[in-house]
Amino acid sequence: MNILQIHSSARADGSHSSRLARDIVERLQASLPGDEQAQLTVRDLGRTPHPELGEAALQALFTPAEQRTPAQAARVALDDALIAEVQAADVLVLGVPMYNFGVPAALKNWIDAISRAKVTFTYTEKGPVGLLKGKKVYLALTRGGQYRNTPADTQVPYLKTVLSFLGMTDIELVYAEGLAMGPAAEQQALAAAQAQIEALFGAEAVAA
Ligand SMILES: Cc1cc2nc3c(=O)[nH]c(=O)nc-3n(C[C@H](O)[C@H](O)[C@H](O)COP(=O)(O)O)c2cc1C
Repeated sequence: MNILQIHSSARADGSHSSRLARDIVERLQASLPGDEQAQLTVRDLGRTPHPELGEAALQALFTPAEQRTPAQAARVALDDALIAEVQAADVLVLGVPMYNFGVPAALKNWIDAISRAKVTFTYTEKGPVGLLKGKKVYLALTRGGQYRNTPADTQVPYLKTVLSFLGMTDIELVYAEGLAMGPAAEQQALAAAQAQIEALFGAEAVAA
């Protein structure tokens, strides 16, 4: 099994979403049968930001490969590397903080990089078809406030839409909310997130 663990917090230390993503990966690895080894790739978009999809990147992408300048080829290769990681993954575990009611720009840049026509999605006469199929996705969602299942939570509809568009429809959500609402609320939120992880990977869940 190949696991791709993605962090998108800007915080190098003390990130709750990165911590929860790590916890999910550890529980996932522990739930595997004894003879199954997991290959883990960690992509930290906070420490190693991916460049945004600016004009130069668009021009590079829309230039045929054999006509690209060395700089254009190098820019496309950066996206190719992220696409290859996702294509190789059986499971993706994403740490996703809420920033100003959306996803961190670092995560948006990753989404822009992996969303490539005819490679990770395609259009047919029946509409779009995602090409990243057969993958499981876990989202570790951390927020200062509490927005789960409210119209203010634009993250979850957005992520479900774009991941499903790319073919990744099997998505589990783990929430830690209210992290800025005082120490008691923070502890409660982190305990609730651990309980959600336990429900996903506990002995009963694995046996089912
Ligand atoms: C720049 C910034 C913007 C934020 N915007 C929101 C927000 O819109 N809603 C919210 O509930 N929390 C917001 N927060 C709080 C974070 O979601 C919360 O601190 C979360 O734990 C961050 O994830 P991390 O611990 O992985 O860094 C924001 C935090 C930062 C630093």
